[in-house]
This record gives sequence, structure tokens and C-alpha cells, in this order.
Amino acid sequence: MAKIVVITSGKGGVGKTTTSAAFATALALRGHKTVVIDFDVGLRNLDLIMGCERRVVYDLINVINGESTLSQTLIKDKRVEGLYILPASQTRDKDALTKEGVEKILNELSKDFEYIVCDSPAGIERGALLAMYFADEAIVVTNPEVSSVRDSDRMLGVLSSKSRRSEQGKEKIKEHLLLTRYSPERVERGDMLSVQDVQEILSIPLLGVIPESKAVLKASNAGTPVSLDAESDAGQAYLDAVARFLGEKVDHRFITLDRGGIFSRLFKRRKN
Ligand SMILES: Nc1ncnc2c1ncn2[C@@H]1O[C@H](COP(=O)(O)OP(=O)(O)O)[C@@H](O)[C@H]1O
Ligand SMILES: [Mg+2]
Repeated sequence: MAKIVVITSGKGGVGKTTTSAAFATALALRGHKTVVIDFDVGLRNLDLIMGCERRVVYDLINVINGESTLSQTLIKDKRVEGLYILPASQTRDKDALTKEGVEKILNELSKDFEYIVCDSPAGIERGALLAMYFADEAIVVTNPEVSSVRDSDRMLGVLSSKSRRSEQGKEKIKEHLLLTRYSPERVERGDMLSVQDVQEILSIPLLGVIPESKAVLKASNAGTPVSLDAESDAGQAYLDAVARFLGEKVDHRFITLDRGGIFSRLFKRRKN
């Protein structure tokens, strides 16, 4: 049985698709057979970030409608063994995305994969609700600013009430906070919320902090998930986050200007 992981947020443009691509890639790099599904019907961003847009023939809606099989539709990544992409449809009606259809696909994928990573659209539209309905774990992508944190907080409410797990009375979805586009300089100037501020407001476990980084735009222009750029700060931060997700204890990096400084020491102490 695969573990279904939804990458979600209240607000758009916070880094969900970047995270879905980087996360799924890093899971596969660690030897876990992983598929990443684009639930953002109409936008179709994931295949661009993954660099496979020219290889898209069929999509999620085709599979739901029985117009293609999963094996015809899944795109196998050429760089990383055990990594597959299920693209979204660019043109079709979002109503084609049905709960029964999605459930059937997830059940089928579950037999073959260890992780199913769902890239969710923003907010609580149909695709977003469906992506989270079936999830076992949720990565709540948040930027260190008040509006993003507020929207993530709302999303946590939705996660705990509108999921299959909650309906079936099972243990609730495991939530992880991923703070992205973090800039220690701006935090120090008082222009951004700090890691501690955000953690205090949302009070869910911190999976990682991804720094604001030029490497992200460079990677997306090249169609390469940033976690394949192991030299970059953002790439390393995603690899760390995935190691933590897999249960390893890895210190947080990129959260202070002075790595050995008092803030990082305080932060480490708080964690223990
Ligand atoms: N860590 C980061 N540093 C710099 N830019 C980032 C970072 N994460 C995401 N971005 C940029 O933010 C924009 C939105 O990212 P995206 O992943 O598409 O967000 P979403 O899927 O939540 O709408 C993109 O232009 C992306 O390149
Ligand atoms: Mg997106």
C-alpha cells in the first residue's frame, strides 16, 4: 500500500508545485518508487517543472474517463529511477475530476508505488479538496508572511474535517509544516515572520525550511526538480526535508544569517 502525501496550502504561488517536484524526486532518489500527480486541472505546471511537458500524451482526466490506461499515461522520469509523473489536463472541465475516479486511480497506483505525491491547486476548489481527501499525510506549504500563514491555518481545519480518514474515524492525517521562500535577512529586518513565529501560530511539526533561492527559478526554467541540484541551498533543504520525512534526524539549515549563532543554538534547544 502506498502512502498518499498531499502538498497543500491555502494560498497560491507559495511553492506547492516546486515542492511536489522536488519532494517526489528526492523520495525516488532515496530508492522509494514514487509517482507525483498534478491535480491542478487547467494549469498543468508540474510537467513543466519536471521537464516532461513534451512527453505528455494522456492525462489524469483521460484515465478517469477510461480513454487511456494508467500505464499509457504515466510518464517515467528519464533521470531518476522509480520516478513517475501523472500529468493534469490543460483544457478540460474540472468537473470531470470525480471522487470515484480519483479513488480508482489511487487504488490502482497504491499497488505499485510506495509514495503517491499529490500536487494540489490552491484553496479549496474541487481539485484541492480531492487531492487532500484521500491523503495519509499532508505537507502544508507556507511562506513566512501573515496572509499565507492565515490561509494555511484555515487549510489545517479543512484537512482535519474533510478527509477520508476523518470520515472513517481513523487516525487523522499527519501534518507537516514546510516553510518556503524563507529569507533570514528579511526576518532580521522585521519584514518577514520567523520560523518560530510561524510554528507558534500553526503549531504543527516543522518538516523543513526552504530558503528563498535563485536556484529554484533556474531549475524550473531548465525543467529540473531543484532537489537534483544538490549544490544549491534550496536543493539541499529539500533533500534534508525528505530525510526528515523518512524519519531521520537532520538539523535545520538556512534559517539564520550566522549559522553557528545564538538563534540557531536557541532553535536547536527548543526542538529537543
Ligand atoms: N524557495 C524558493 N525560492 C525562490 N522562488 C521560489 C521558491 N519556491 C517557489 N518559488 C517561485 O514561486 C513561484 C510559485 O511557485 P509554485 O511552486 O508554482 O507555487 P504554487 O504551486 O504554490 O502555486 C514560482 O515562480 C517559483 O519559481
Ligand atoms: Mg502549483
